[in-house]
Amino acid sequence: MCGIIGYLGPQNPVEVIFEGLKKLEYRGYDSAGIALIQNQNFEVRRSQGKLSELGRLLSKNPLYGGIGIGHTRWATHGRPSETNAHPHVAGRIALVHNGIIENYLDLKKQLLNDGCQFSSETDSEIVAHLINKYIKGRDLVKAVQMAQEKIRGSYALVILDSQDPDRIVAVRKECPLIVGIGDEEFFIASDLMAFLHHTNRVIYLDDGEMAVLEHPFPQVISLKKTKIKKEVQKITWSPVMAEKAGYKHFMQKEIFEQPQAIIDTFRGRVSPEKGEVLLPEIGLTSEELKDIDQIHIIACGTSWHAALVGKFLLEEYCRIPTTVDYASEYRYRNPIVNSRTLLLLISQSGETADTLAAFREGKKKKARILAICNVVGSSIAREADGVIYTHAGPEIGVASTKAFTTQLTALFLMTLYIGQTLKKISRKDRLAMIQELLRIPHDIEKVLEAEDRIQAIAQKYFQAQDFLFLGRGIHYPIALEGALKLKEISYIHAEGYPAGEMKHGPIALIDEKMPTVFLAPQNNIQEKVFSNMEEVRARGGIIIALTDEKKGGKAGLKANDLIQLPKAGWGLSPILYTVPLQLLAYHVAVLRGTDVDQPRNLAKSVVVE
Ligand code: G6P
Repeated sequence: MCGIIGYLGPQNPVEVIFEGLKKLEYRGYDSAGIALIQNQNFEVRRSQGKLSELGRLLSKNPLYGGIGIGHTRWATHGRPSETNAHPHVAGRIALVHNGIIENYLDLKKQLLNDGCQFSSETDSEIVAHLINKYIKGRDLVKAVQMAQEKIRGSYALVILDSQDPDRIVAVRKECPLIVGIGDEEFFIASDLMAFLHHTNRVIYLDDGEMAVLEHPFPQVISLKKTKIKKEVQKITWSPVMAEKAGYKHFMQKEIFEQPQAIIDTFRGRVSPEKGEVLLPEIGLTSEELKDIDQIHIIACGTSWHAALVGKFLLEEYCRIPTTVDYASEYRYRNPIVNSRTLLLLISQSGETADTLAAFREGKKKKARILAICNVVGSSIAREADGVIYTHAGPEIGVASTKAFTTQLTALFLMTLYIGQTLKKISRKDRLAMIQELLRIPHDIEKVLEAEDRIQAIAQKYFQAQDFLFLGRGIHYPIALEGALKLKEISYIHAEGYPAGEMKHGPIALIDEKMPTVFLAPQNNIQEKVFSNMEEVRARGGIIIALTDEKKGGKAGLKANDLIQLPKAGWGLSPILYTVPLQLLAYHVAVLRGTDVDQPRNLAKSVVVE
């Protein structure tokens, strides 16, 4: 989504803000802008398109001034254009905004009556006018508080007053904002990546809180307008961890980081000798776990595919009825939830608006709330009763890769833990499952070694117009994920289906030009997958098969192209089958020349409904 940064300190503010925006560009990228206070006025540069456009503008028409704010935008209200780009200026006020102001039309009417003139189509500009209206005779803090009482919706706002050039004020509601504390300098951003190369000391703002950045130290003010003392936390992610490290794209780097990310996710949580899983962060006592009679898993996008795998795991091993919902649907279907329901939210970013909304729906109905999250301190992570963090590290590529496989790892750990607590999985089985888990990083390395082979397959088919991905059982969600990855980054139309459903529709698409990717692991339903392969072959379709059978087995005989995988246990095999599909999508996209890390129309974290 949109990225925000503000800076107050002795360095060149344009450099700090522009560098920060570069790190944030993955969150939104249809326009960008910077505003600085200069001689009690604003100097603003904005441009449509990628950040490089703003860079060009700044070198042609440099910007000078004191403190400043910057923004990269992903349009929600008003098309991507220079006038709709942030910062927005109204009189004494300049601001950047992330989120949505729901009652902006009503507010706009009132402000028009007051004689305000608007220069953009955005909801954000209304807030600038509103604060400008209230600031007459007051200070910025008071004016922002008054505006806060009028606006409805979600927001992270960072605001400057041209008459108060030593202060930045910021407020948040349902959109992240983090304060960075440097040496005699302060930062505020929607993501700590924006300033992590300057400081790793941060304060997370909570909903309704305001940060006032000023010397000698930033203040935090609660919604009740009282000053509060917040803990300064130290971040251990190094900025280098977020760089490309020699790979062509972040996505490729992140695919190759998966063995380590998975190790980091299970490290310290399993005892291979005792066959035990340690997950105190689950935030539920064994009595409380025993009381749970249903699990609702809620997520969006790739995380939703992880949720589908989670259902297989939890029902198979723990025998707890589990349903999976798209977060955007959940709260509108009046779900049956009570205090015996465990609501499991899966979100890489921990900021997805639909997932947060579903969370609040469950909370209202007294569900117990557990989250699987990658971003420490994110909204979902902070509000849930318990959090299992996936230690994937920062994921920059918009298409999710390592975040997904670490979510699968976390779900496996969670299943083991619940199974152990409820005595549904014997110690002997746990010992074996933990051994299988420990082998997974090594097995992924083996799959990664097949990159050249997968690239060669991509070379054969990258001009195809459609792809079909088929799998059964616990591999069916992976077929969905394979299709999603391909369409996200290559823009090829791709569908994922349970293989058994193919004959009820998608079979009509099959011809000699369409590749069908089959996930055919050795298991009790492999023969059924073979029958589906025959159905494709009989219609002249192209088959790309993934299997763990030695030398390809029967799948190898039926396929035009084969990808051989190591054999993993049932519950972990989805992780292995994901990796070649990520590589296939990646190489097809590279061959088609798309913007792999920042595919069109997509955003890494969608903080609007
Ligand atoms: C966006 C991203 C997807 C992601 C989804 C859910 O659509 O482009 O990659 O899967 O949001 O994000 P979350 O952070 O909640 O997992």
